[in-house]
Formats: sequence, C-alpha cells, structure tokens
Amino acid sequence: MALLEEAKSVAGQFDYPPEELNKGVKAFIQQMDEGLQKPGTAMSQIPTYVTSVPNGTEKGLYLAVDLGGTNFRVCSIQLHGDTTFSLTQSKVAIPRELMVAKTSKELFGFLAKQIENFLKTHHDEHYQAHVIRRKTMNAQAAQAESEIFQLGFTFSFPVNQIGINRGTLIRWTKGFDIDDAVGKDVCELLQTEIDALHLPVKVAALVNDTVGTLMARSYTSPGKTGTLIGAIFGTGTNGAYVEKLAKITKLSHIEGSEYDRSTGEMIVNTEWGSFDNHMSVLPDTPFDSDLDKESVNPGIQMFEKRVSGMFLGEILRRAMLALVSNAQLFKDEHSGKNSLHSTTTIAEDSALYKQWGVDTSFLSIVAADKTPDLRVIRQTLSRDLGVDAASTEDAEAVKVVVNAIGKRSARLSALAMAAIIIATDNHISRGAGEEDVVDIGVDGSLVEFYPGFDDMMREALREVPEIGDKGEKRIRIGIAKDGSGVGAALIALVAAQKDTST
Ligand code: BGC
Repeated sequence: MALLEEAKSVAGQFDYPPEELNKGVKAFIQQMDEGLQKPGTAMSQIPTYVTSVPNGTEKGLYLAVDLGGTNFRVCSIQLHGDTTFSLTQSKVAIPRELMVAKTSKELFGFLAKQIENFLKTHHDEHYQAHVIRRKTMNAQAAQAESEIFQLGFTFSFPVNQIGINRGTLIRWTKGFDIDDAVGKDVCELLQTEIDALHLPVKVAALVNDTVGTLMARSYTSPGKTGTLIGAIFGTGTNGAYVEKLAKITKLSHIEGSEYDRSTGEMIVNTEWGSFDNHMSVLPDTPFDSDLDKESVNPGIQMFEKRVSGMFLGEILRRAMLALVSNAQLFKDEHSGKNSLHSTTTIAEDSALYKQWGVDTSFLSIVAADKTPDLRVIRQTLSRDLGVDAASTEDAEAVKVVVNAIGKRSARLSALAMAAIIIATDNHISRGAGEEDVVDIGVDGSLVEFYPGFDDMMREALREVPEIGDKGEKRIRIGIAKDGSGVGAALIALVAAQKDTST
C-alpha cells in the first residue's frame, strides 16, 4: 500500500467515535462510585483531607516542592491575599538513575539537597539565622524558636493519604521504580533527609499536583464560582474534584483520620490514570498493548498510557516503526518528489529505535507545522530523530498519525471531565441560570503546548448528551500556571492554621 494510505489506516486505529466516548463516560462514573465506597479499586478516589477551597484572601510566605514526572521544583510563594502571589523558583531535571534508584534515600536525599541549595540562594538570611541559632542552642530549642518554613510537598504519584501530611506510596508511575519506597510515608522520607541537613523546614502538607492545581485555580480564578476540577495533562494525567463528604463512604473505614466536617465536602484525588485498568471500555491498538507490555508497570495506568505526554511519544514511535517496515516510511522510493532530493537515512542510533525515545514535544511540533512543504517536521525529524532528508510525503504520513494520537488523547481527556461534571450533579445542559459556570483548572505540557488540544476536548464534550452544546459553553477551562506550587503553599497554610488551632 502507498505510504499515505497506510498512514491513514494506522491513524484510523486511533478513532474514538461518540458512541465509544459515551460508553466510556458511563464506565468512568461507575468506577468513580466504586472507588468512593471501598479501597483497592482501579480508580483509587483518594480522600485528601482538604475540605475547603481558597477564596483569594489567604496570605503568608510558604515553601513548596514539587516532584512531578520530569523535574523537581523548589519554590517559595508569597500569597498577597488579593488573589495574587509572587513566586521564586528553581527547577532541576531529575536524573534518570534516581528514578530507578536502589533505595529511596538516594532520591529523597537529593531532594533535600535541592531545598538546601534553594534556601541558601533565595532565603540566605533566614537560613543563616537558623544556622547561628543551632550553634548557640540545642537542636530542639533551635527547632522550636527559629522560624520554620512550612512546606507543601507536591508528590504526584498515588499515595494512600491518611492525614494532611501523612501518606504512604501505593505505586510508582511515569517510569519511576524504587521498590523500597512503596508502602512508606513519603512525608517522613523527605522530613528525615531535611532533618539530616538541619534545614528550618517542616513538611506540613502532602499534595497531589491535581489538588494543588484545583486550589491554585480557586485562589486566582475570577468570580465567585469555586473550582470543581483540577486536572493535569502533562507527563502523566490525573484529576481531583470537590466531592460531597456523604458520598465518600469509605472514609468511615479509615482509622484515625481526622478532618473538618463543616463544609460537607472534601477534595478527592481520583487517580484517573488507572481508570479501566481491566480494559472494559478503553480503546486499544497493537501499539498501545505493546507499549504496556514493555513498560515497568504492565496492566496499570491504562488510561494514562493512552492520554499523557510520557506515552504519546512512545505510541507514535511504535506506529512510525510499523510504517517504516510495512510502508517504506523514511525510505527513498517516494522521495523523488523532493526537488532538492538527497538520500533519506535513519541514523543507527536514532531515537526511533529507543524505547521512550520520542518526546511529546515532538508531537506538538508536528501538529503545529502548517508550512506547505512541512519543512518544520522534516527539520525536527532530522534534529530529534536522526532522520535525514525525509520527504514531504514522509512528513505528511507522520503528521496524519500524530493528529490521530493527539485527538484520541484529547477525547479521552474530555471523557474524564464530562464524567466528573455529570457525577457531581452539575447537569449543566438543563435548567440552571445562564450565569452558572463549571470552573476547571488545568496544567501540563499537553494542554499548554499541544495545538488545538482544548478545541478537540470541547468538541468531544459537546458529543456527551448530558452536556451538549449548551453545557459545553458553561465549562470554563483555565490554565493554572505553576498551580501545583501555589496550591501546595495554600494547603500548607491550611495545615499550619489547623496546627496552631489545636
Ligand atoms: C500520577 C498522579 C499525578 C499525575 C499527573 C500520574 O502518573 O499517578 O498522582 O497526579 O501523574 O502528574
């Protein structure tokens, strides 16, 4: 078959029509419900013990760290109390060997060291004052008397949260794999390393990035409507939402959990990355299933593996390899059209041959190229994948497949949001005042950089009858930039207030 035809047929495997989408929405609602009732379900529906969202008047200086998928960020946040904040931050890429280190101490020791560097660089006076106090008093007194930074720890992996700053790791995701951390309290792991360096820092709150995003969006978002959902579409994907306490029936079985019941609500971290791990409704292609089989966590995070940045590049890589072997992608036969034709070559060490070799940013670049001869795609093929002198037809074939993978990801993302909106009884397609909006805070490289992601999501939202055209217009989706940092600070604030009031 000719290259382009073959590419279209590969792309067709990623179609996700409205009927499938709606079946998915129903299954998602069902799996959400199950997760609220009992432990050990596909979607963990983790209670976060955060029972209210901010309103923009919160104030103070807080530290926040964020262990996400790719980077580790340390920041200090000054909340001004008028919906604005200022943020100072430093960011380092997490060395790959630490993601799969033998012991958790190696990773958490590295994190504490970054906090120390940050304090020395940006809050040196505060830090030195603490060092002097430590030298002149015993450690306990220094700890008690010096100004301790309250730190919000954004830890973007599934944890079994048992209190605002306590939670044990359920499993690693996004390529991390450090056995001895599973089952341990990650706040304690970090605090131990912070204490070993004698830093004036208390891990006050444990925060999932989606919860941070929800809080941050609620702090900064215009109008009186509280934010309903915080979602990440980045290296990984996940969402948190505001749920009625009465529906989180499994809370009554969690021993020793304490929380404020006065609002009647609690933010729940869905861990939707593991929606439908048993594959009852999720779409599947040979590229998806091979990716899963060869991942560090087969059978887990099946939704995430079809949606998020870490995986889209790998799905594409596998689809491109299939086209290389079945349809002469990047072979010379069809390159004759190029006027400045020279021989197409794939470098021996091309990222095309390496697992996880293709980054999502590659997909964003491909999807964005509107030049008539797809010059940008061809340049990027050369720069990122070592494919030299690719033809326009090659580039077209790659683009057809990229568009299909991106579109399926956006439609699945819409599925998750639609399900939560419907499950929380925001029947926005019928009745209710026109002014009613459902506010959603999002963050992550896909929503931020993938061209048209938002439009594709919205198109899918309209295809869900409970939402429809009318409802879709009432959904306000806004990027909560740096959301997890600010959100973690806001939760550290809530935790510190609780500490002093008891
Ligand atoms: C993790 C979530 C996280 C999401 C986005 C997923 O792999 O399981 O906890 O919120 O990535 O970072």
